[in-house]
Amino acid sequence: MNLTSRIANYEFENPLMNASGVWCDNAEKLDEMVQSPAGSFVTKSATPDFREGNPSPRYVEVPLGSINSMGLPNLGFDFYLDYSITFQNENPGQINFLSIAGMAPEENILMLKKINDSEFKGITELNLSCPNVPGKPQIGYDFEATETILTRAFEFFKKPIGVKLPPYFDIAHFDEMAKILNKFPLQYVNCINSIGNGLYIDADKEEVVIKPKDGFGGIGGAYVKPTALANVRAFYTRLNKGIAVIGCGGVENGRDVFEHLLCGAQMVQVGSQLAKEGITIFDRLLQELKAIMEEKGYSSIEDFRGKLKSI
Ligand code: SIN
Repeated sequence: MNLTSRIANYEFENPLMNASGVWCDNAEKLDEMVQSPAGSFVTKSATPDFREGNPSPRYVEVPLGSINSMGLPNLGFDFYLDYSITFQNENPGQINFLSIAGMAPEENILMLKKINDSEFKGITELNLSCPNVPGKPQIGYDFEATETILTRAFEFFKKPIGVKLPPYFDIAHFDEMAKILNKFPLQYVNCINSIGNGLYIDADKEEVVIKPKDGFGGIGGAYVKPTALANVRAFYTRLNKGIAVIGCGGVENGRDVFEHLLCGAQMVQVGSQLAKEGITIFDRLLQELKAIMEEKGYSSIEDFRGKLKSI
């Protein structure tokens, strides 16, 4: 069975990956991702320097997924860049995604310049959608700021790059954002980051469940799957064909992976369920996806990718 997926000129053995933020913040977790059967992996969104992030509790599993307000805790950009270069040197022909999330445009430009000047051969992900940094609105909801940062980036950045988008909820916003993204030689868009800001509460204790921002945070897991699929489909049908879509949101089983692919995703990321179940989830998802494809008579993902039917 052929599960091959492509982004830019890169080919991946299968479409599965972690979602940035899950199983990718330190060397131990990244090593487990490398050894897992996932087709690729993305590093934790980096800031130029080490960040402690928000106070705990800041990630809580809830019945249909998760709520988090991590606040971009990370080991600093140099760690993730070095890890990625070492991985690529030790595994010729394989590449990973390197995620960056500067606190200000200048920080993103600084990290992009370092990537440009480095040996990094993979794909950079510019995270425009972290909902969890107090006082820093998500850039992806500011259409002008999104266009400005992409314009600045493409003035000098010469390597493959994609963007991680927040979820959009209105057809006019899909149209408007797609029009902006189509102006740039992006390799992909990643739909979606968590839905921010939700509020999960504990009615027994009559209190919020995470500490930062008085309980407000990004919602992931089964709650977000319909929104994720809508964003994957909306961008798949609106973007230039050279811009791939990565699907992220609500993946718990092989059927969820199949649905993301059917809506047009090239790669499919796993967040909340990976955090809950652990690294062995990739074996299970691959088996379940293959079983669905076999039952439907598909021998390759290209047999059905993006071919969602209208009624
Ligand atoms: C976080 O670290 O707060 C999550 C990152 C993100 O949602 O982009």
